[in-house]
Amino acid sequence: MHLPRPRGPISAALGTALRGSPHALPSSVLDHAQRPGGFALSDEDLQVSLWICYELSYRGFSDVDEDWETEPSLLAVRAALEKRMLASLRDLTSPPPRATNAPAALKAMIDADDGPGLALYLQRHATAGQFAEFVAHRSIYHLKEADPHSWAIPRISGRAKAALVEIQSDEYGAGRLERMHSELFRAMMRDLGLDDTYGAYLDQVPAVTLAVSNTMSLFGLHRAWTPALLGHLAVFEMTSSLPNRRYGNGLRRLGHGTGTTRFYDEHVEADAVHEQIAMHDLCGGYLEDHPEDTGKLLFGAACALAADNAMAEFLLQRWESGRSALHGVLETDVA
Ligand SMILES: [Fe+2]
Repeated sequence: MHLPRPRGPISAALGTALRGSPHALPSSVLDHAQRPGGFALSDEDLQVSLWICYELSYRGFSDVDEDWETEPSLLAVRAALEKRMLASLRDLTSPPPRATNAPAALKAMIDADDGPGLALYLQRHATAGQFAEFVAHRSIYHLKEADPHSWAIPRISGRAKAALVEIQSDEYGAGRLERMHSELFRAMMRDLGLDDTYGAYLDQVPAVTLAVSNTMSLFGLHRAWTPALLGHLAVFEMTSSLPNRRYGNGLRRLGHGTGTTRFYDEHVEADAVHEQIAMHDLCGGYLEDHPEDTGKLLFGAACALAADNAMAEFLLQRWESGRSALHGVLETDVA
């Protein structure tokens, strides 16, 4: 994967600098990153810059020296962007309740969230082109599905660790390549005529879609945010079964068979089990040992809902006004 196209002064400066050997970034880049802006989740320059910084800790870019990952001036820029991102996430979420029973608090939070109804739209109304756009958006996360939450594995212990490994093992196909969820997603992309290359749609997705992934990476790459990462994963698992059933139904309505819907069908079953493990063993187990982290864990859960809802709202608004939800035209190799 190559560096994405710049979307403003910060990503432009990163793009220029990162193509060279690691060196101190000009102080103007940090100045830009520290400048207070509007709502961070829809800030194109902020989100693509943060995505670039984070990707250095995942698979990196073919045109970037891997030693950039720990360049202090780049980490300072990343920290400034994260500060703005966290401020917007706090604005977007209510302060977590003072809960003593984490599973009940998670359940109540999810029950109170009615979401913008993207899954229902995809089930009943989306055109083939809109469905393909949705999959292109989701590919930013699903092509590295489970990776952000795996950062928590070495940081926790006991019952919570066993629960997390059980969930992640399923995500990675229990050691079988063809069952890895990211591979199931790639197979679906190919069936829909989409490019299944990692990062293929990076330049086409808006800030809010990058923000969904960046939220996970922010929690994953800081040990201090581990409880938030666990809460985030719990919401993912607890809100997955019904929407995935609807996505699969949407594809079936559009004429696709079980080969194409397998990614979604797999999640209907797997996540019904994962929901219980995540709620009781992962979050409940973790907070038994770390009750002081309840607020952080519930904040991560609230952020998962908020970021996903922001992306869903964006897609629905675009489609309802007859526009594409991507930058540029989505090219597919099927009609
Ligand atoms: Fe999955």
